[in-house]
Amino acid sequence: MTEFWVGTSWKMTKTLAQAREFARGVGARADWPVRPFVVPPATALAAVAAELGPASPVRVGAQDAHWEDAGAWTGEVSVPQVADAGATMLEIGHSERREYFGETDERVNLKVLAAVRHGLLPLICVGESAEVRRAGGAAEFVADQVRAALAGVPAGVPVLIAYEPIWAIGATGRPARPEAVAEMAVVIAAAAGTRAAVLYGGSVNLGNAVELARVPGIGGLFIGRAAWEVSDYLCIADAVGDLVA
Ligand code: PGA
Repeated sequence: MTEFWVGTSWKMTKTLAQAREFARGVGARADWPVRPFVVPPATALAAVAAELGPASPVRVGAQDAHWEDAGAWTGEVSVPQVADAGATMLEIGHSERREYFGETDERVNLKVLAAVRHGLLPLICVGESAEVRRAGGAAEFVADQVRAALAGVPAGVPVLIAYEPIWAIGATGRPARPEAVAEMAVVIAAAAGTRAAVLYGGSVNLGNAVELARVPGIGGLFIGRAAWEVSDYLCIADAVGDLVA
């Protein structure tokens, strides 16, 4: 079960000093019972990658990147740029980007294709709103997001898909019930094909990580707030690691 992913996105937090401290904390560990990854802000990518070193089992991801390789796109960074800074994964389509920064399914797809073109592992975030779930349309909505994200991606290219229902994310969120996560894992796997590992994200913490990691069809956890302290991240990785070992 070493294929079980446990990662954290730092979103818009951490100074360089804080990012390096976290990287030192995870870098100090040699044996991992899970596949660890961290997703720093763009400002800290190079520092974290340098601190970890190229042989580290801890993968580094970027939180977003533009679909073009270079050009006049003020404020953006490209996939080759984040790869140059040390990222080997690319988070794409987080609901905060979809909601606040106009990220559409079309753009998500362009970014997935750019990541694949440059050999980065896409970490595609999908998930429905509370309204969509209440109306009974969650499965169809999420399947559509997955199919749109993967359009034109050759079969067999590995991808990670994080199921992150919008109502489960952040300080006002509540984690999805394991049964709901299990149902959605089936929906996502069917829409994506066999190449995808399905992760769960949204209010994961030390108290619920093991229960969520046990959900059939779930191949990883993607954590925000509860893993921003390196000791907390390591505790969750260990708890899940005990389960999957
Ligand atoms: P959270 O964030 O764990 O803080 O709810 C999860 C996410 O946005 O991936």
